[in-house]
Amino acid sequence: MAVSERTVFVTGATGLVGARLCEKLVAGGDRVLAHRRRPPPAARVPGLTWFGGDLCSPGEWESALAESDAVVHLAGASIVAGRWTPARKRELRASRIATTRGLVEAMARCSSPPSVFVCASASGYYGARGAEALEEDSGPGGDFLAQLCVDWEAAALAAQQAGARVVRLRFGAILSRRSGVLASVLPLYRLGLGGAMGSPASYFPWLHEDDATGLIAFALAGGAGEESVLNAAAPQCVTMGEWARTLGRILKRPALFRVPEVALRLAFGEMGEALVAGQRVVPKAALSGGYDFAYPELEAALRALIR
Ligand SMILES: NC(=O)c1ccc[n+]([C@@H]2O[C@H](COP(=O)([O-])OP(=O)(O)OC[C@H]3O[C@@H](n4cnc5c(N)ncnc54)[C@H](OP(=O)(O)O)[C@@H]3O)[C@@H](O)[C@H]2O)c1
Repeated sequence: MAVSERTVFVTGATGLVGARLCEKLVAGGDRVLAHRRRPPPAARVPGLTWFGGDLCSPGEWESALAESDAVVHLAGASIVAGRWTPARKRELRASRIATTRGLVEAMARCSSPPSVFVCASASGYYGARGAEALEEDSGPGGDFLAQLCVDWEAAALAAQQAGARVVRLRFGAILSRRSGVLASVLPLYRLGLGGAMGSPASYFPWLHEDDATGLIAFALAGGAGEESVLNAAAPQCVTMGEWARTLGRILKRPALFRVPEVALRLAFGEMGEALVAGQRVVPKAALSGGYDFAYPELEAALRALIR
């Protein structure tokens, strides 16, 4: 095990990415101070300590933050858990933007603030862009999700005023067997009911879960240099049609069903539109910074997850 003096404060540590990240950091020798909203579990894992509380209010989590060298902010209400009613939209925004502001304000109050702030964002930043190749300097879209990401990233960037190096990771859909898009569609594909959601020509930015944690570790270690934004999507950005055919081929099942855009809009409202908004994301900064993707191509990523 590598020996590290680093202490990392992780929010959203119970989530898909956070739980894997905490394991990876502890295995690499880091001390991890993990945050969750509910009271922390009594069980102690060597190298991992839990803190509870609301990130928008003072609490014991602030003393953990003050001991940390780096912060990884992954907390946020699920984007796909239900229709985007006005109340739900407020929760989606507050759970990301207000918590980011709470963390950044607490960092500014530390006598020796954490020197790195890594914050999640999403490829939804770009909105619906068809086949346009989207690098980190491409401009934002204009829909609800894009505006949420713009405000979330701006809140994160304010940590520079506390002296921190800030990296914002625009994640594509993270593929895992435990939750997320792959876990949701696998049962349908196994029944032969799989197929493209929306237009088969829409681009679908995706990322294997190992590369989600790998890119966070890369950002923490300064691999991105002064680059403040990383597109966190695999180099092979496929279309919805390619995604469906690849998954069907691996499972040896037909993947001919198609959920039309209009059905998604009817079923899920504005969230349905966001689900079918294609983005052809190019992870330019990660590649030029030397990040070596464990799973650059979809077929190998899916085979590794499904085997
Ligand atoms: N997974 C993806 O495909 C994907 C794609 C693009 C962007 N992202 C972003 O990357 C981050 C990590 O993703 P993930 O998949 O690991 O997320 P996740 O599994 O949904 O976990 C997020 C964590 O946020 C906390 N949370 C939930 N509701 C909250 C609320 N209302 N207020 C504050 N905290 C709340 C929860 O922790 P506690 O309840 O234990 O505190 C939860 O474990 C998220 O911000 C997500 O939006 C993910």
